Amino acid sequence: MNQTHSEILPSEVSHSNMKSYEQARSEFSWDEIERHFTWYETGKVNMAYEAIDRHVAEGRGDKVALLYSDAAREETLTFAQLKEKSDKFGNVLRKYGVGKGDRVFIFMPRGPELYAGLLGILKVGAVVGPLFEAFMETAVKDRLEDSGAVALITTPALLSRVKRDELPELKHIFVVGEVEEVDPRLVNYHEEVEAASSELEIEWLEREDGLIMHYTSGSTGKPKGVYHVQNAMVQHYYTGKVVLDLREDDIYWCTADPGWVTGTSYGIFAPWLNGVTNVIRGGRFSPQDWYSTLVNNKVTVWYSAPTAFRMLMGAGSDLIDQYDLSHVRHVLSVGEPLNPEVVRWGHKAYKQRIHDTWWMTETGGQLICNYPGMAIKPGSMGRPLPGITAAILDDHGKEVAPYTMGNLAIKTPWPSMMRTIWNNEAKYQEYFRIPGWYISGDSAYMDEDGYFWFQGRIDDVINSSGERIGPFEVESKLVEHPAVAEAGVIGKPDVTRGEIIKAFISLREGYTPSQELKDEIYRFVKEGLSAHAAPREIEFKDKLPKTRSGKIMRRVLKAWELDLPTGDLSTIED
Ligand code: WT7
Repeated sequence: MNQTHSEILPSEVSHSNMKSYEQARSEFSWDEIERHFTWYETGKVNMAYEAIDRHVAEGRGDKVALLYSDAAREETLTFAQLKEKSDKFGNVLRKYGVGKGDRVFIFMPRGPELYAGLLGILKVGAVVGPLFEAFMETAVKDRLEDSGAVALITTPALLSRVKRDELPELKHIFVVGEVEEVDPRLVNYHEEVEAASSELEIEWLEREDGLIMHYTSGSTGKPKGVYHVQNAMVQHYYTGKVVLDLREDDIYWCTADPGWVTGTSYGIFAPWLNGVTNVIRGGRFSPQDWYSTLVNNKVTVWYSAPTAFRMLMGAGSDLIDQYDLSHVRHVLSVGEPLNPEVVRWGHKAYKQRIHDTWWMTETGGQLICNYPGMAIKPGSMGRPLPGITAAILDDHGKEVAPYTMGNLAIKTPWPSMMRTIWNNEAKYQEYFRIPGWYISGDSAYMDEDGYFWFQGRIDDVINSSGERIGPFEVESKLVEHPAVAEAGVIGKPDVTRGEIIKAFISLREGYTPSQELKDEIYRFVKEGLSAHAAPREIEFKDKLPKTRSGKIMRRVLKAWELDLPTGDLSTIED
């Protein structure tokens, strides 16, 4: 499948030249990066120490670490204050017998407690699992159950979505807010933290000990628990330096929630490992609030997603003129393809080239990027970072010629590569089916300058507003609805969201198609699973295309939707 050259746009900006990129690659050494960490000398590893305590130990305790704001609340914490709060929560966890290797989840909206709590979990050597606050009962239960979580931090408002009776391993629930109910598992977070000592002996770990789990979707089965280890900090620190370009006085804002990997790798670890002030904004998206956040905090480096940039573009330039954004010096994007027109608009609107970055939950950190010092080709994800080798492989593992589409693959290993899929080593191994390579599941091609161009997913995984949704999870929820006999789910192209979820549904006997029923089914998924997984479009069909083995052929549904040829139908049922 050859791509046409006309799709390649000329580079618009060049801070330097190709030679320096080649030079950076040849001179690169991970060992040099690792020298930054205290464990390089001491052998004692803990992410929370490197990200927070170390800055206190080295005299930067009074520097602002966290600038939090939402519609109702503003709070500023220095590195010293964040150290103290996380030390205290670490002691609370120890009191309840939580320690090294235990899985402790966090299910709450962004707020200072989430960040202090997460660091406290890491300080006792436990593995943290952040969950997006919009998850409903089934999504929460699946993740807590699969991970065998022993403790959870949540809020009174979200507590009802935690099916305690079905989670025997979940022994302690720290509630941030008033607890009225009497249940020995419920613990008042604030009361305990207040009473706890602020002297904590950190649990020292090995580089390969657990750090964090993020559940993410594939095309089949339930969400996968992607497991990362302490060593990932090498990549977080390094990319924070060379891609985010973080410097001492930067005020950095990553707009992602910690429920997604961007919100931890680049919303917590990269900025704090680099010792910069981290802006966190809670609440929902609004162009006005976002611009105010940039202005009020004098943000200098801003990391967001294509959907957000497209919505800001839609909000117009008049709005931008009301804000002085001159302090913003670097803008980055991740999660979905960044349209060239958005890059061009960003240049006009913010006087900044939006730098696209490519990576995945599984990769733990950025791998292919546009970064300062590199010529940008709008529409390209960029080039592999020094230290990283990427290639386009055919299905047999052979590298293909430039402009030929194939499997986007990364040479193994790199510091932040996932170390397993929790409870599913077989799934993990599938990513490494070609010896020496990690197969991403994305298709892409490389041009003659070594720039990578994203083409799509190879599997059926849907990317809606930068959020990854497994069709199987949505289909499973849909068939729980009494009216639904069978369901097939696809991503339908959408100008703002990249893709939206579209469900094809055949109804059970006795049900007739109606708008009301569509609305009800939409709500059913939204309230049972999560809003981002709910199908915005539903089409009723008498019958769905299936293979003889009974698998719904999403590829055929997609072809119907896009008016494309349906391709090989030799395995179809009848
Ligand atoms: C998938 C990973 C890790 C960041 C958040 C998403 C898509 C990611 C880009 C990009 C085109 C991109 C890929 C990838 N994706 N970045 N710059 N251009 N597509 O993490 O939920 O694990 O999703 O997002 O399809 O495989 P994720």
